[in-house]
Amino acid sequence: MALAIMSSGGDAPGMNPAIKKFVDYAFKMGERPYLIYDGLEGLIDNKIQEASHHDVAGIVHRGGTIIRSSRSKRFFEYEYRLKAYNNLKEHGIAGLIVLGGDGSFRAMEKFSSEFALNFVGIPSTIDNDIYGTEYCLGVDTALNVIRDALDKIRDTASSFNRAFLVEVMGRNCGYLTIVSAMVSGAEVCVIPELEFDYEKEGERLRKEVESGRNYILAVVSEGAKQTSQVHTWLQESVGLETRVSILGHIQRGGNPTVRDRMMAFDFTITAVNHLLSHHNSNKMVAYQKGEFKLKEIKEVVSNRYELPQRFLDAVNFLD
Ligand code: F6P
Repeated sequence: MALAIMSSGGDAPGMNPAIKKFVDYAFKMGERPYLIYDGLEGLIDNKIQEASHHDVAGIVHRGGTIIRSSRSKRFFEYEYRLKAYNNLKEHGIAGLIVLGGDGSFRAMEKFSSEFALNFVGIPSTIDNDIYGTEYCLGVDTALNVIRDALDKIRDTASSFNRAFLVEVMGRNCGYLTIVSAMVSGAEVCVIPELEFDYEKEGERLRKEVESGRNYILAVVSEGAKQTSQVHTWLQESVGLETRVSILGHIQRGGNPTVRDRMMAFDFTITAVNHLLSHHNSNKMVAYQKGEFKLKEIKEVVSNRYELPQRFLDAVNFLD
């Protein structure tokens, strides 16, 4: 049977180990693996090639995705989805794995409602914002990149009388920010999911500064859209000269951690096994309570990921 894999949307560390495992495991099971290059754009343009072991040699330690990715505007149009479907048919692909995030799964849900597809999604986004799974590929690596940056910024912060504000990615989800704030002992954490009480927090920090605190580390989610407001507040209300660092795309790069490699292997084996034993199945592999399970893609995209309550409670421990 011909099986294919593609990346879609933002790349995430862990995609390459998944691609390698996909090719190796497909061969082990006696199937023919295909690689789709350039994400949904490549699917439309028929950039589909049969893979050999050689194509995926020496990639397990690399961030990003060797088959590249894209955010496709054309895929929103029916005529291009039809083209994409015909390309899959032309190669006789009977099962498709998509490494992607929420946006990609929405696109796949639409695609699968129009055409007979057998596909499984593997949650892959540093944002960790996909409903139904506790873990998405790339998250551990991104957290370690952010932790490393925050540890370094704290070194310089602690040598000066200053506040440091670090803006963290995550789209509309505060997961990366909240976990990074916890593990780096940040004094301030601002996420989209919780209202930040500038007055109360300002009073707390002013008191701490009066009794000897000489620096502050503030971690702010890009999705909170309050970076410049927090900057002004730290300078004018808390009273510390403030420097801002926007970590940006550095958070998406880097060699996948051990956790991301191991998760990639398990997600991929589960996905391939599922494709081999089903037809017309539209699912996502979810990681829940230490187990890998299959969830309907429709359920995944019609619900919103929510941060675990214990994380939200942790923001208050920062007070
Ligand atoms: O979804 C991953 C992510 O890195 C988000 O954290 C961020 O908001 C977005 O992608 C950036 O997208 P782009 O790389 O298209 O600018």
